[in-house]
Amino acid sequence: MAPYRFSVITIFPELFKPFCKTGVFGRGVSNRLLSVSTINPRDFTTDNYHSVDDEPFGGGSGMVFTPLPLYKAIQKSKKSTPGPVVFLTPAGTPLTHARVVSLSKLDGITLLCGRYEGIDQRIVDLFVDEEISIGDYVLSGGEPAAIVLMDAIARQCSGVVKEAASVENDSFFDGLLDHPHYTRPAEFNRKKVPQVLLSGDHKRIQKWRMKMKLVETLTKRPDLLLTARLSPEQKKMLTEIREELRKGSPADK
Ligand code: ADE
Repeated sequence: MAPYRFSVITIFPELFKPFCKTGVFGRGVSNRLLSVSTINPRDFTTDNYHSVDDEPFGGGSGMVFTPLPLYKAIQKSKKSTPGPVVFLTPAGTPLTHARVVSLSKLDGITLLCGRYEGIDQRIVDLFVDEEISIGDYVLSGGEPAAIVLMDAIARQCSGVVKEAASVENDSFFDGLLDHPHYTRPAEFNRKKVPQVLLSGDHKRIQKWRMKMKLVETLTKRPDLLLTARLSPEQKKMLTEIREELRKGSPADK
């Protein structure tokens, strides 16, 4: 199968090198399941300073990414990389697990990283297919957001995470947060691992994990329960958990 192609338009290509060699993503690259290329808009400048920014029309603070080098970088990317041109910006649609999964089903993606106060709007209007934000805060540029998106997409590409079960157990896979995890030692700083996990009773363990996913989601992200599709068993459990919490019991047994 052809690798999933990431093409990143950035004036800081060096930021992507260690990421592409490290951990799960790095293994995906060396196993040819993922491929990454960077395109530097500075390579398409003609002045001595290789400048890619200019003052904003209308005045104001900060500089704006000038359109021509971005246009040329996008054209180059389109020649080698299928899929949409995605601009990382705090003004974009907030990224969700569902969007990550649908993007991972494509053959590739071009990630456009802005810097300065913004990029010339005509690039967005003419060449950007989608604007994505990774959260309601402002980064100095789109690069960290591009890395977040690349990592999340890569996990969904088959074979990148060795055990398919690890991806299926991830938070958000079924619209819920993950359950807590424990490993040795069985007691740490006088805090014991929940007894059920040492019982060897797989049915009880599965049930406990399902309950803890619901407890985690209910207490930390109750908004997710509005859209998660729960089985009748999960619905029943959730009612019981609400009751337990209302009575003030710990709900972790
Ligand atoms: N660029 C700057 N801030 C960003 C954010 N929150 N999400 C995506 N891209 C960005």
